[in-house]
Amino acid sequence: MYRDRIRLKSLWGKVVTPEEAALLIRDGMTIGMSGFTRAGDAKAVPLALAERAATERLKVTLMTGASLGNDVDRILTEAGVLARRLPFQADPVLRKAINRGEVMFVDQHLSETVELLRSRQMGPVDVAVIEACAITETGGIVPTTSIGNSATFAILAEKIIVELNLTQPLDLEGMHDVYIPTRRPFREPIPVVTAESRAGLPCIPIDPSKIAAIVVTRKQDSSATILPPDGETRDIAGHLIEFLDREVRQGRLGRSLNPLQAGIGTIANAVLHGMIDSPFHDLTMYSEVLQDSTFDLFDAGKLTFASGSSITLSAGKYAEVLPKIGSYKGRLLLRPQEISNHPEVIRRLGVIGINTALECDIYGNVNSTHVNGTQMMNGIGGSGDFARNAHLAIFVTKSLAKDGRISSVVPMVTHTDHNEHDVDVLVTETGLADLRGLAPRERAETIIRNCVHPSYRELALDYHHRALQRGGHTPHLLEEAFSWHQRYQQTGSMQPV
Ligand code: COA
Repeated sequence: MYRDRIRLKSLWGKVVTPEEAALLIRDGMTIGMSGFTRAGDAKAVPLALAERAATERLKVTLMTGASLGNDVDRILTEAGVLARRLPFQADPVLRKAINRGEVMFVDQHLSETVELLRSRQMGPVDVAVIEACAITETGGIVPTTSIGNSATFAILAEKIIVELNLTQPLDLEGMHDVYIPTRRPFREPIPVVTAESRAGLPCIPIDPSKIAAIVVTRKQDSSATILPPDGETRDIAGHLIEFLDREVRQGRLGRSLNPLQAGIGTIANAVLHGMIDSPFHDLTMYSEVLQDSTFDLFDAGKLTFASGSSITLSAGKYAEVLPKIGSYKGRLLLRPQEISNHPEVIRRLGVIGINTALECDIYGNVNSTHVNGTQMMNGIGGSGDFARNAHLAIFVTKSLAKDGRISSVVPMVTHTDHNEHDVDVLVTETGLADLRGLAPRERAETIIRNCVHPSYRELALDYHHRALQRGGHTPHLLEEAFSWHQRYQQTGSMQPV
């Protein structure tokens, strides 16, 4: 019975259908919706919105934590509901609409969105739509498999719609730590001093009179689309573990390393998976997305604690982990994304950040977002929050994409998300480039030698040698810097014909 989950009885009368709740949302509004990398997203109200858009003009600004599941971004895009979208997405249909210029996408550091809202540099938020597994006796909202930006959306919004999801286990209650930073410019330090630190409340504290509607749902989170580790991702993991082992032997890290962060996607998940067979133990995570590898590491006895903002699992892992999520209590904490990704905390903890590059260049600049410099893929996500502030900012990528027609290491990236100053280590399946303390000319030598695929190495060396002859601190042949990308556009391959 859903009423057990609405512990503030005065709210029982607020239960309505998704269609009735969606009527609170009108054309031109800004909506703050729960959802972070397909976890804990609102699942019913957005669909009702899409249906309404068939018969009336309905265009909104949609803010979330990060990407959504259940095809919500696709459905809203196809219904023409999205005027503006932020701070992250990973949907192929929305991606195309963004690249056609039909949806204005604001690609933001994930830690920043609510800071901008709180300081009224963006917003206001008209309606928050938040998935919950329960509402407490005082009207506090207990989130589900993610927190993302939900807490601040709910606190700042004029009205709140709660999607009470009966498939989300009540055991999730107690796994959230909702801490809201105090106002600037006199902000207190955030009291998170270890991955395990509890700083806030187990629910989102709001004035219950703001809850304008409650919708009961039974739809599960979508599963992650990550692929299992392959030979190349295993090689990437191997290089990284060897490097970290060297850091330990040289006394720069202990056997438990520093708290780990791993970005979304197949490669980062595979790298963490590789830690199962590593010589490290008593690992901790201070990350944003907790993927399959987090639970594999727990079950292998390698990981003692994981802090994140969402739990995003493959279908098999979801079915295995969710029913027994209570058994991870005390070892797992979900935080608002501004805390999981907060520069202050990441710098304090000395996080080892492992994120994926779409492409990088011979000097170590990283493009995480734009294919050929113009076409948005997903967004910067939390990679910038972590890379700039990490103890070690590590970027991983396969050296080749599209069956070797693209080299992921190029003379100059066509879009820079993480500049050379923020990138300590680059890893591809061919090797690892430790860039710390190296000047650009040395960085290029190391990257070309270790990370470029043999089929592109001579080309890269030739470019660099000719650039060196021209001179400069960071030598380039500007007229040729994008020639590999141009060749790909013209011939379908970066390889010369
Ligand atoms: N040029 C063009 N396309 C490239 C490419 C390149 N240099 N490198 C990879 N790709 C393509 C792949 O071919 C693949 O295409 P497909 O979907 O048509 O098969 C796609 O990009 C994804 O690459 P994949 O190798 O499967 O990596 P991934 O799933 O690990 O995703 C990112 C890689 C970079 C797209 C992803 O990590 C991302 O969005 N990162 C930014 C956000 C982030 O880092 N957040 C971190 C905190 S969670």
